[in-house]
Amino acid sequence: MWSLPCLLFLVFPWVWVQSEAQQNNFPFRILQISSFPNSSRSSTDSLAWLGDLQTHRWSNASDTIDFVKPWSQGKFSDQQWEHLQRIFQVYRFSFTRDIQEFVKMLPNIHYPVEIQMSTGCDVYSENASESFFYVAFQGEYILSFQGTSFQKAPDAPPWTELVIKVLNGDQGTMETLQWLLNDICPKFVHGLLEAGKAELEKQEKPEVWLSSGLSPKHGHLQLLCHVSGFYPKPVWVMWMHGEQKQNSTQTTEYLSNADETWYLQATLDVEAGKESGLACCVKHSSLGEQDIICHSQDDKNSPINIIIVVVLLVVGLICVLICSYVIYTKKRCSYQGIPGRAVVEHAFNPSTREAEAGGSL
Ligand SMILES: *[C@@H]1O[C@H](CO)[C@@H](O)[C@H](O)[C@H]1NC(C)=O
Ligand SMILES: *[C@@H]1O[C@H](CO)[C@@H](O)[C@H](O)[C@H]1NC(C)=O
Repeated sequence: MWSLPCLLFLVFPWVWVQSEAQQNNFPFRILQISSFPNSSRSSTDSLAWLGDLQTHRWSNASDTIDFVKPWSQGKFSDQQWEHLQRIFQVYRFSFTRDIQEFVKMLPNIHYPVEIQMSTGCDVYSENASESFFYVAFQGEYILSFQGTSFQKAPDAPPWTELVIKVLNGDQGTMETLQWLLNDICPKFVHGLLEAGKAELEKQEKPEVWLSSGLSPKHGHLQLLCHVSGFYPKPVWVMWMHGEQKQNSTQTTEYLSNADETWYLQATLDVEAGKESGLACCVKHSSLGEQDIICHSQDDKNSPINIIIVVVLLVVGLICVLICSYVIYTKKRCSYQGIPGRAVVEHAFNPSTREAEAGGSL
């Protein structure tokens, strides 16, 4: 009923197309978190995602990388996967040892040390891909791998230069890293995209419900529109008054549900008593053209609804009057004749009597 703003949205399909394009692009990201509480203790945990679906986890306690999805091996053979895992095992061991060496070597660094790494690749088409490798120290971005060598981040501490010099001087590591980032990563992701296609392209419909709470502003209410359980991520949520978009609608960040679907909340601050006629409009790819429109609870008191209720009552009343009149007149008619005529016809119709007689024989 209030879908004109949603129609306007269709008039500018580029907004939707744009988000659809983003949705079709599934970056593969590996996040490594390494903690070194002191010189004798360390722990490294890693996680990997394709788009927003987790594909792998590798806990410090395990020697092998866990598959989170049935398609986590992509199109790699068992042998190829074993080979890759072996490289990562060697890497994890050397990484721990190297960090401990660096801490010994650099006087400005003290335990506890926390290292985070984000690496992976974005595959755009058969031949186009882009890889990335970023490192953070104590939560601050300090260096990245760019093409063929490590580069210092603009705000990194001066000692980063020394670390980069050591890393860039290690020919073997540099070659392996380039091979992993530019050759193996895109190949692996192509396989994942193929093997996981059904799940990556799944469409889950949002569930929408409304609630209200107190606004920090005196005499105001906060209307909340909860949108949950949808996948993929892009969703459009807006509070409307009739055909008017309420531009003061505030949406939260996307929050993930445990079942790998998304949740988002759109809030609107309104003067208490002015909430009637407001509706929450939700557009999502899983819904096609069927937007979800949820009216605020007080809507049942809106003038249009009161008119509808009054009209229904009047129509109902008229119906009752007509029906009782018809029944009343019909009753009179039937007492006067219809059943009587049936009895008379029956008694004097020979074929009926014969049939009855035959039946009883
Ligand atoms: C290192 O830290 C762990 C806990 O994180 C502690 O149990 C251990 O005793 C510490 N070792 C040294 C040598 O300080
Ligand atoms: C992490 O794994 C390494 C190597 O297996 C081990 O030496 C270390 O104690 C583990 N750390 C924790 C916190 O369990």
